Amino acid sequence: MPQATPADRNDVAQTGALAPAISLHEVTKHFYKRGTRITALSNVSLHIARGSFVSIVGPSGCGKSTILDLVVGTERPSSGSVYCGGETVSSLRVGTGYLTQHDTLLPWRSVEQNVRLPLDIKSGGLARLTGRTSDPAAAERVAWAINLVGLKGFEHHLPDELSGGMRKRAALAQTLVYAGETVLMDEPFGALDFQMRLLMQAELLQIWSTERRTIVFVTHDIEEAIVLSDEVVIMSRRPGRVRDIVPIDLPRPRDPVNARFDPRFHELYQRIWNQLDPPENAPPRTAAHNGLSARSARQ
Ligand SMILES: Nc1ncnc2c1ncn2[C@@H]1O[C@H](COP(=O)(O)OP(=O)(O)O)[C@@H](O)[C@H]1O
Ligand SMILES: [Mg+2]
Repeated sequence: MPQATPADRNDVAQTGALAPAISLHEVTKHFYKRGTRITALSNVSLHIARGSFVSIVGPSGCGKSTILDLVVGTERPSSGSVYCGGETVSSLRVGTGYLTQHDTLLPWRSVEQNVRLPLDIKSGGLARLTGRTSDPAAAERVAWAINLVGLKGFEHHLPDELSGGMRKRAALAQTLVYAGETVLMDEPFGALDFQMRLLMQAELLQIWSTERRTIVFVTHDIEEAIVLSDEVVIMSRRPGRVRDIVPIDLPRPRDPVNARFDPRFHELYQRIWNQLDPPENAPPRTAAHNGLSARSARQ
């Protein structure tokens, strides 16, 4: 199916028919730190189709996390507008799953109780106060999510008793347990070792293909962005702008390992790599950097 041009997509956003799940229209975001203005995003327009998997890549500090904060409503744009689920985002959207870069597990709740937290909050009332719920469907979904991230057997551990990688997986289960339509993920697999990362990528693709949620995924890893996504958004160095949106035309269903051997993968890698700004304090790019092959080059 041909891709809608940005102009077409603006039109559908306005009519409401086939409206994108998420839209940013000419968004600029300034922060103020000790009297200094920091422009995190400058005139960013982005339209993310319902049910699609979109990754955002770009150097540190280019505003990737800020985009997710704007979509979930913890930050407001300085100018421009943000739409999610057909509405302007004007306050915190509790129905949007958000796996942040920071560990948000509650230290006094076990893995199981942490994973169940979004369901407790959704159901409210006594379950929320006591940390208990007798809803068998909820219990089943919690067990499913814990199993999925490989934490079966650790249900009753407290976050302090887990390694960094395990805590990240518990947080991932907490994000997935809630059946919201939109899921935002900020470098969710960064703390995992390579093999676990591949397994989690495969699991995430499996979940996405069965549940068809809209996923916005921030990562530093170009390979990860390519194997998972329908589109990769490349951001420029701060102030962040959208430099390019690369459609990923690798066939689906995808296996995150085998997809890396597809010749098309290398072309896509090269296109993204060539457009990425180096991090702010990086040494200058040398001929050796530029000559890195798609297989060995990592951001
Ligand atoms: N709450 C905040 N207060 C002040 N500056 C902020 C705040 N949040 C982000 N920034 C700044 O905005 C820029 C973009 O941040 P961020 O979105 O976290 O970038 P990224 O996720 O791409 O690394 C950075 O320079 C960061 O220091
Ligand atoms: Mg970030």
